[in-house]
Amino acid sequence: MKLWGGRFTKETNQLVHNFNASISYDQKFYKQDILGSIAHVTMLAKQNILTEEEKDAIVDGLQSILRDIENGTLLITPEHEDIHSFVEATLIERIGDAGKKLHTGRSRNDQVALDMKLYTRDEIAALNDLLKDLLSVIHRLMSEHIETFMPGFTHLQKAQPVTLAHHLGAYFEMFRRDRSRLRDIYDRMNYCPLGAGALAGTTYPLDREYSASLLKFDGPTWNSMDSVSDRDYLIELLSALSTIMMHMSRFCEEIILWNSNEYRFVEIDDSYSTGSSIMPQKKNPDIAELVRGKTGRVYGALISLLTTMKGIPLAYNKDMQEDKELTFDAIDTVKGCLALFTGMIDTMKFNEAVMAASAKRGFTNATDAADYLVNHGVPFRDAHGIIGQLVLLCIDKNISLDELPLEEYKKISSVFDEDIYEAISMKTCVEKRNTIGAPGKDAMAQIISANEKYLQES
Ligand code: ARG
Repeated sequence: MKLWGGRFTKETNQLVHNFNASISYDQKFYKQDILGSIAHVTMLAKQNILTEEEKDAIVDGLQSILRDIENGTLLITPEHEDIHSFVEATLIERIGDAGKKLHTGRSRNDQVALDMKLYTRDEIAALNDLLKDLLSVIHRLMSEHIETFMPGFTHLQKAQPVTLAHHLGAYFEMFRRDRSRLRDIYDRMNYCPLGAGALAGTTYPLDREYSASLLKFDGPTWNSMDSVSDRDYLIELLSALSTIMMHMSRFCEEIILWNSNEYRFVEIDDSYSTGSSIMPQKKNPDIAELVRGKTGRVYGALISLLTTMKGIPLAYNKDMQEDKELTFDAIDTVKGCLALFTGMIDTMKFNEAVMAASAKRGFTNATDAADYLVNHGVPFRDAHGIIGQLVLLCIDKNISLDELPLEEYKKISSVFDEDIYEAISMKTCVEKRNTIGAPGKDAMAQIISANEKYLQES
């Protein structure tokens, strides 16, 4: 059934129907569409625009449609233009004339704006839970690896020793911000467009506050033209999803490096790896690579929607229908990636000895050696030069600063004494760094317990 047609004298060309129709994808929010309609008719009855009997018949009919879609006895079929037409046609088929009153005081423009918001709200809740699962795994790993030393890098060159807990803690911060970004979007978008009509409100005495409260919004939207043509919250969501992907992608890049023969910092579990059809020895980090790869697709959705929206005059235009497929795809992609990524790091093995040995090589304690001199009264710039010379000497001898005999130290500066070895041991280097946010054990323990509290409370 078509929702329009009265003023037409010809049938729609089939290709036009196919091109125009959105039912193949907007059926994804059948549930939100039905719940929105139930709220709408409940409000219409309260305002005496529908009788109680009409409202009851419509609500029963809508509930039976919801039930039957969910139990598989009612199939959503493609001859309808969109999910809104499908539900309305099925309702009229089931309850007769009362069904024809469902669309009183409503347009598909405010209806679709509502459905998309309801859908987005549900998906934000699901994404929030997935992020929390990921944070919980990172938190567990942090708690277990507070004394697992590893090199910290800048420019992908070994810089200073850190711990695995500290490195993972950086990702904890990123994904925690991602959660709070979703919360911000939720709070900003949570106003109900229902009642905006096609663009200019309606002449019926709708109680928009009531509709909004039935659907758990913070209130109705304040401008009917904006209500039907606002897609800001989807752009914000796609931006937040892009950022989540960027964070996962960076982490994946590290995991791919760490899992390589050259690093061997981690081993991805067999259940999260794949093999090669030709090279029997291979165990590939495909999941990490796919998550990294899918990042482009989510960024693409953001750029697509920004571009679609940029030239649209007020108010609703059909271009806006393009928001759906790309948003659905981006949400599904991020949800899938989050679940797999979490499973992958939950089962990954960290080679603690390899990490610690790597931190020892590469002079990650050179800054601490310079600090030793500074603590003995040598100006930092001179200390920097002295340690630089010693590093050169060690490179020549193919040893680390810890292995250089004291005489060699003394040859370059008489300030050095036996306690230099203690001062540049990995344990000292890390544990002396105890300011807030640093890798030292006490500083880390504080952050880990604050994270624990955060996970319990949110
Ligand atoms: N399928 C449409 C969309 O997603 C629903 C709104 C249709 N409104 C209209 N005026 N044709 O945007």
